[in-house]
Amino acid sequence: MKKVLITGASGLLGRAIKREFDNDATWKVLGLAYSRAGGDLRRVDLSDVNAVKEVVREFQPDVIVHAAAERRPDIVDKKTDVARQLNVDVSRNLALIAKTFNCFILYVSTDYVFDGCNPPYQPADQPAPLNTYGMLKWQGEKAVLETYPKRSGILRLPILYGEVEYLEESAVTVLLKAIQNGNKPGEMSDYEKRYPTYVGDVAVVIRQISDKTLQDENFYGIWHWSGLEELTKYQMALKIAKAFNIDYKHLVAVNKPSPGAKRPYNSHLDISTLTQLNFGQQTSFQDGIMISLSKFIS
Ligand SMILES: NC(=O)c1ccc[n+]([C@@H]2O[C@H](COP(=O)([O-])OP(=O)(O)OC[C@H]3O[C@@H](n4cnc5c(N)ncnc54)[C@H](OP(=O)(O)O)[C@@H]3O)[C@@H](O)[C@H]2O)c1
Repeated sequence: MKKVLITGASGLLGRAIKREFDNDATWKVLGLAYSRAGGDLRRVDLSDVNAVKEVVREFQPDVIVHAAAERRPDIVDKKTDVARQLNVDVSRNLALIAKTFNCFILYVSTDYVFDGCNPPYQPADQPAPLNTYGMLKWQGEKAVLETYPKRSGILRLPILYGEVEYLEESAVTVLLKAIQNGNKPGEMSDYEKRYPTYVGDVAVVIRQISDKTLQDENFYGIWHWSGLEELTKYQMALKIAKAFNIDYKHLVAVNKPSPGAKRPYNSHLDISTLTQLNFGQQTSFQDGIMISLSKFIS
């Protein structure tokens, strides 16, 4: 049976990836977590090189999906050394371990490696990150590709949402807080263009990449995946409010760059390399938001 090891399996994307592989009887799955380990998720601190090596030696995966990262740009700015260790050093080490144990490694990356000035971006386009998070994720990409060039993949993704444990877990679902707080003007960015992407759709793509790379040893490199709808955060908020019949007159569109770490204006990813292979599925924002937020609506 094929075996997949998933890092960050307790996270927003990792949970969806694990679900996708768990539902495919041809795959045996081991999910790793850290502070949220428990159930069938094994606790491994990825910065502990020996512990990671031991779990790979024991499980002997065919594919490692590396989804663990520090993905909050403002936290990366504040705790850059910790973020560098997880996003870059751990990624290089995992690639080295994948090489030692002869398995494919897929590194999950971000559209923030681009500056957002010349969309749409092709996988071969030159990254030019605007903030430290984008820079570290790009360094993580390079560390993986340099360490194990012919048996590794990079999958770049834009802003994600899905079945969150708490609203702040996704930059999309957190909008519900301001939407529901009708007593206060809710300022929302109507500036940067985003392509909110449902984690269940990404998980399907990751399973398909994993299957294909085991059938075809020439299948490696950089890929992009993205939702199809272009929306600012303000436009997302209006769609959420309308979907759940919540009054939105208090929402205020802000037409200037968002505060905090600098964000790309429009880092739209071209996904044609994967769609030409008939990879993926597309959940509409309307449907994805209903799935993700219904439990938070009283
Ligand atoms: N979220 C987005 O909008 C977005 C957009 C584009 C790309 N991405 C990329 O997608 C990937 C997944 O993001 P996400 O949103 O699912 O992240 P997330 O929800 O913040 O989850 C991060 C994961 O990393 C694990 N982790 C953190 N430190 C660890 C350590 N020292 N050892 C072991 N595990 C550790 C966490 O485990 P515990 O929680 O158990 O501690 C958690 O499972 C990341 O590579 C990110 O860069 C995310």
